[in-house]
Amino acid sequence: MTKKPISDTATETVAAQLFERPGGGERAALVQLDDGRRAVDEGLAELAALAESAGAEVVERLVNRRDRPDPRYFLGRGKVDELRERLASAGADLVLVNHTLTPAQERNLEQALQCRVLDRTGLILDIFAQRARTHEGKLQVELAQLRHIASRLVRGWSHLERQKGGIGLRGPGETQLEMDRRMLGHRIKQLEKRLERVRRQRGQGRQSRRKRELPAVSLVGYTNAGKSTLFNRLAHEGVYTADQLFATLDTTLRRIDLPGGEAAVFADTVGFISDLPHQLVAAFRSTLEEVVEADLLVHVVDAAADNRGDQVRDVEAVLEEIGAGEVPVLTVYNKIDLLGQPPRVDRDASGVARAVWVSAVSGEGLGELITVVGERVGAQRAHGRLRLGAAEGRLRALLYQSGDVIDEQVLDNGDCLLEVSLPQREAERLRCHEGLPTFVE
Ligand code: GTP
Repeated sequence: MTKKPISDTATETVAAQLFERPGGGERAALVQLDDGRRAVDEGLAELAALAESAGAEVVERLVNRRDRPDPRYFLGRGKVDELRERLASAGADLVLVNHTLTPAQERNLEQALQCRVLDRTGLILDIFAQRARTHEGKLQVELAQLRHIASRLVRGWSHLERQKGGIGLRGPGETQLEMDRRMLGHRIKQLEKRLERVRRQRGQGRQSRRKRELPAVSLVGYTNAGKSTLFNRLAHEGVYTADQLFATLDTTLRRIDLPGGEAAVFADTVGFISDLPHQLVAAFRSTLEEVVEADLLVHVVDAAADNRGDQVRDVEAVLEEIGAGEVPVLTVYNKIDLLGQPPRVDRDASGVARAVWVSAVSGEGLGELITVVGERVGAQRAHGRLRLGAAEGRLRALLYQSGDVIDEQVLDNGDCLLEVSLPQREAERLRCHEGLPTFVE
């Protein structure tokens, strides 16, 4: 990675010309609020990982115990003074705050500390700016940065309201601010148009895949869960993997062969993270369209992570937010080598595989994973008996319409027992969207 002061990547854009702030550096002090609600150690560890991903060296950490942030400085005044002294003795030139700061708090802290301050959104944007590789990814990042800056401009970075000098000309510098806003607005519109074009092309790619009838599988998961490593192993491709957060920013697509001569298109996607700023989720919506339109989501979980339950919930929340809450999911518990566990497939009462335990590094369980993906998205058929009540007439009609019913018996209480055979993919879809019950014994 090219070494650049943190937050300088952002300054290559139009925004660069708008800011007069202390320059960013690489020696970072981390700041975390302890409001008694979030685990402080985990919060700091994640912020440190984010900082390192951005290329910073963590040289100082400060925790402030208070119930709610100070409206002016975020930290208490005493803590601001303490931080200033600690920055000087540690030689830190960057302060990273693991929360969202208001524009005023960011500005006041910068003035009080005489040091560049970035909040969580700013830091994640910076990492995104460094990582984006495709044209679309770069456009998305720049757009997110400009929107972030524009929202702050509107709410008034008063130090942008430059004093023009000269009697009668001093004042809030309305004209300059207006010009800045217009410039930003113009660039944002330009980017939106270009993104729209890229999106249309991407949509055409998806349509042609549909025509070829190749099922689409998207790898999703918390950042660092091992998606890219797994994707590489499956595709024998050199997709970039690194022990860094958000190593993958853009969706990468590969055709992967499944057992029985079938194939699917796999997509490796951006890693999710807790408190992913809302505007970033929105910015990556088009990348995440691959996720929404997938036939199957492979949710990769770091089985060895202490807070794996929280990570799973965070990913599920983002999936819900981007409208992918209904897409069938296969959970992959990765990194079993760290747990010393053997590979395993967990199935539900109908025999549908719900989870596979693997190690993308040692390769254990990958054969099982491919087989299970084949079962879930391939042309394999699900065969069994279903018991439907009188209220489920619509589902019964759907099954008849698609020729899935082999036999039907009416039971004494009026329920019917249907013997059905239907493509596994169709069964998945009906389970998710139409409440298809599990097969009876
Ligand atoms: P993002 O791009 O941030 O979303 O990350 P990712 O989910 O694609 O993770 P990536 O594949 O980059 O892996 C993150 C780290 O976990 C790397 O250091 C991998 O070597 C490591 N890793 C991945 N799979 C395994 C595994 O099965 N076992 C062990 N021990 N480490 C693994």
